[in-house]
Amino acid sequence: MEKQTNYSFPKDFWWGSATSATQIEGAADKGGRGKNIWDHWFETEENRFFEGVGPEQTSDFYHRYKEDIALMKEIGHNTFRFSISWSRLIPGGRGEVNKEAVAFYNAVIDELLDNDIEPFINLYHFDMPYELQEEGGWESREVVEAYVSYATECFQLFGERVNTWFTFNEPIVPVEGGYLYDFHYPNIVDAKKAVQVAYHTIIAHAKAVEAFHGLPGQKGKIGIILNLTPSYPRSQHPADLKASRIADLFFNRSFLDPAVLGEYPEELIELLGEHGQLPETLPGDKELISANIVDLLGVNYYQPRRVKAKENEPNKEAPFMPDWFFDQYEMPGRKMNKYRGWEIYEKGIYDIMINLKENYGNIESFISENGMGVQNEERFTEGGEIQDDYRIEFIREHLKWLHMAIEEGCNAKGYHLWTFMDNWSWMNAYKNRYGFFSIDLETMERAPKKSARWFKDVSINNGF
Ligand code: NOJ
Repeated sequence: MEKQTNYSFPKDFWWGSATSATQIEGAADKGGRGKNIWDHWFETEENRFFEGVGPEQTSDFYHRYKEDIALMKEIGHNTFRFSISWSRLIPGGRGEVNKEAVAFYNAVIDELLDNDIEPFINLYHFDMPYELQEEGGWESREVVEAYVSYATECFQLFGERVNTWFTFNEPIVPVEGGYLYDFHYPNIVDAKKAVQVAYHTIIAHAKAVEAFHGLPGQKGKIGIILNLTPSYPRSQHPADLKASRIADLFFNRSFLDPAVLGEYPEELIELLGEHGQLPETLPGDKELISANIVDLLGVNYYQPRRVKAKENEPNKEAPFMPDWFFDQYEMPGRKMNKYRGWEIYEKGIYDIMINLKENYGNIESFISENGMGVQNEERFTEGGEIQDDYRIEFIREHLKWLHMAIEEGCNAKGYHLWTFMDNWSWMNAYKNRYGFFSIDLETMERAPKKSARWFKDVSINNGF
């Protein structure tokens, strides 16, 4: 029975959490899985990874999914996002489907449905099959076609029982990490290539949406998950205002506009043109993008971007476009997550939602990730349980702003925490813990944190 709450959410609100294949499955060399770029990068540059821990075991979801899904049920999840590992389903990225992988994902889906948890599937979460990266990854139009075949295969294999799909998670991140700032493989720093990669990702996305909507009898919905990072100028100086607009154009609108509105912002095209960085396109691309907008949008929100123009401060770290600079790390006078070093700005969630309502047709959306990473979290253990009151406060304050946005008519359907259980992060491995459940990395035992109990009440009462 639901209790009366001060902040009550719309009926059938999605309460759950999000994960990704490379970060939780483990069994990287089992069940016929092929190699992805993370396995390769770890093999070649282990020292880049926190404490030399790679993606081979991670949280062992591959073997423990039943136990994990029971825990999801236990804390009141009605939805759960995971991703399919492309290199597990189709080792090498093209060609034959791996039967063991099909059996595994079918079993996960069945287990979720048996526990009344709606599976949300994401198709690509930073994990390019290694062989396809050797062909150029997203720089290559052929790889785009390989992705579309993979996506279609997934829709055909699992589409009957899965109603909610996403083409990509945070597609700007591989662009930033892999092609601008050197924190993802293939560690290239080249703005022109970055733009091409971003463009090909949108083409791949639009083609997958087209394939999905073209399937006979399709009842489900398909979307994309974007890390919308509100861009706030550091001052009212015209240079900062301009830089902030540019950051918004490149890091948010380069995916948001084509995915939701079906077209790129004119200003972005002009900006890229001025810098000689327009991507190569093919005839028909524009029509493809405009004909294949999403049904829903996932929004990952962690922190805003506080932008300062290069003219106001020399560019210390960003080799990107010549005329802006942003810095999200030192933030005097701002609320910080002192256990990880990110700004906490809860109202950002509201600003995003209002923007979607006012400028993006109030598209159906949800918070697909929000969460708080904490270093050395075991230090907060008392009576055998991690007392993560800071996480409870973090979630609660964000939910209040989400609630206000909904009261004002925003079309937000749910909230997923990043993440269900502590998992392996890109390069940072297990440095920052985000889960409702902690993991003992020796025994792989899961234990609920205080936030798990709290979130259970929120989910069951549909509010707090
Ligand atoms: C966003 C990404 O989707 C996920 O892979 C990552 O681990 C979390 N944010 C936390 O940084």
